[in-house]
Amino acid sequence: MNLRSRTPHARRWPTALMLIAGLTVSAVPSARADDVNPNAGRDLAASCAACHGTNGRAVGGFPVLAGKDREALIAALRGFRDGTHKASVMHQHAKGYTEAEAALVADYFSRQSPTKP
Ligand code: HEC
Repeated sequence: MNLRSRTPHARRWPTALMLIAGLTVSAVPSARADDVNPNAGRDLAASCAACHGTNGRAVGGFPVLAGKDREALIAALRGFRDGTHKASVMHQHAKGYTEAEAALVADYFSRQSPTKP
């Protein structure tokens, strides 16, 4: 006789755990375009600041992204991703972003001033 299947408590546990896991996963913020986070582009751009400077105003030889054409930025990121755009590091970075995220971050950088903070 299987005691486990006769114990209501034991049967309910897995369901409860799955619910908790589901809630935890959905509570993690993500930066997809279908989110309603109005700062998604800025949030994504923050991870580029180490090299491309705050809001894309790069110093020290890295390409300036602030104020660049949105479509050109998207095309560059796409090129890095598929290997058609030569890169030393950007192919690695670009692969971590979806097309929608690339569009969000490109949109953000295109709206930044290359000179004014
Ligand atoms: C570790 C430093 C580093 C980080 C972080 C980084 N980049 Fe880059 N990026 C570079 C370098 C270096 C280049 C020049 C191409 C190459 O050598 O990979 C470049 C080039 C680019 C270009 C092409 C610019 C042009 O005018 O040709 C774009 C667009 C770009 N990066 C976007 C981004 C975005 C968006 C992020 C954040 C998601 C990011 N980068 C994060 C170093 C970095």
